[in-house]
Amino acid sequence: MPAPMRSEPWWMNAVIYQIYPRSFADSNGDGIGDLRGICEHLDHIQALGADAVWLSPVYRSPMADAGYDISDYCDIDPIFGTLADAQRLIEEAHRRGLRVLFDFVPNHTSDQHPWFIESRSSRDNPKRDWYIWRDTPNDWRAALGAGSAWTWDEASGQYYLHLFLPQQPDLNWRNPEVVQAMHGVLRFWLDRGVDGFRIDVAHCTGKDPAFADHPRCLAGEPLADFNDDPYSHEVLRGLRRLVDSYPGDRVLVGEVNIRSTASVVQYYGAGDELHMSFNFPPLDAPWDPVVFRTCIREVDSLLHPANAWPTWVLSNHDNDRHRSRYGGSLRRARAAAVLLMTLRGTPFVFQGEELGLEDARIEAENRVDPGGRDGSRAPLPWLARPPHGWIGAPPWLPFPPDAADLSVERQNADPASTLQLYRRLIAVRRSCPALRTGSWEELDSPPEVLAYRRRHGDDERVVCINFAARPMDFAPPGSWRVEIASEPGGRGGAYVGRLGAEQAVILQPGES
Ligand code: GLC
Ligand code: CA
Repeated sequence: MPAPMRSEPWWMNAVIYQIYPRSFADSNGDGIGDLRGICEHLDHIQALGADAVWLSPVYRSPMADAGYDISDYCDIDPIFGTLADAQRLIEEAHRRGLRVLFDFVPNHTSDQHPWFIESRSSRDNPKRDWYIWRDTPNDWRAALGAGSAWTWDEASGQYYLHLFLPQQPDLNWRNPEVVQAMHGVLRFWLDRGVDGFRIDVAHCTGKDPAFADHPRCLAGEPLADFNDDPYSHEVLRGLRRLVDSYPGDRVLVGEVNIRSTASVVQYYGAGDELHMSFNFPPLDAPWDPVVFRTCIREVDSLLHPANAWPTWVLSNHDNDRHRSRYGGSLRRARAAAVLLMTLRGTPFVFQGEELGLEDARIEAENRVDPGGRDGSRAPLPWLARPPHGWIGAPPWLPFPPDAADLSVERQNADPASTLQLYRRLIAVRRSCPALRTGSWEELDSPPEVLAYRRRHGDDERVVCINFAARPMDFAPPGSWRVEIASEPGGRGGAYVGRLGAEQAVILQPGES
């Protein structure tokens, strides 16, 4: 008798929604989003049809890097709430069938973490070796414009390593006590019911043990953009074993922030490292069919043979929103949403992209982030009328453009809105095995049109995206009906072989 097929883990079928907690929803009027705010707005995510949320860090932090500098991994920062609020959020989400991923930041702590305070207190402190101390620096450069990756500690007379800000000293993962302590952090949250983790800069925990100078650093690039030491894989295998020892398909999604799909695929290991990795070339891609085609073919040709399940991301908290990158065009942003939801792999939606938001324009004197990434981190407009549901102190960043028209309230009421388009796309995806886990095959098409077929058994869809700013004729063989169109026109009707300017469509087989 053949062994029963193991059904796919939930995350292969999922749409994952990234919450940036500072800017999602504020419950206590201090102008900063918080855990209760998230709890009060879970309806929005449920109505969108997402399967899981990933929260950017909410742990205790001095906020030198908006919470990616953690001083206690096992407590919640008071600006976000309490441990009890976190527990309630996990339970409330689960009650609605939403899974919850937390952000795990293994590469570095805050310089205010008790471990680092001890480590820097003297050269013979037992935690000295928990961080990376050297008598002489090399040429490694830090990210976020922080210059050298080494900061001199006057009191103990050595340099410590930080691939990001000086307030984010790097942990030494070659020290088994660090491994143990950080595994303890994962257990703490797994025991509280989180369904997995997004792992911050998953490619950075291992460093060249020879600390050799790197020509790319000499040329001004931060090491975190390309650090790729084999030891990071060892670290990930340890995390994977731990997470797999829990029931319920807990998942590890790694941020491998190397802009090379060939490198990214290595971080799936032999099915014993990341379950999924981000792959950012499509996140850098301009509105250009040639670039997208290349990125997508690359994912197909490199990940598929390696049995590595892809992810797709168009926007996140570190980059300009895709609508802004595509010249502010809502039409393009909507066509891209069709692409995002129909490629082979798990799509990630960054809060606000379902509203078609652009980046906020922020005056120089109001900038907060040392890395210049404030624009995409602006607060979500819930209500049409200012202050858009943010009652009390004004939010920590200004609203994005057109906040009233793009508010959740307005878009809820408008069947043609971007929010409704995302809902329809996610609903179709949910009901359609071909779009979720089916095969992917590119179709012959004019260069301006990207077209592909998804198929799973008898279930079949064709997706066409017209990147040109003029209508294009394109007819895939067979007869088709328009299931979803990014721009009004033809929905539900027969597909007549013509795509509108910058229009994307999902086609389903028509009556023959
Ligand atoms: C990741 C995060 C980013 C943060 C950096 C350092 O790239 O997404 O926001 O600044 O890691 O933790
Ligand atoms: Ca608040």
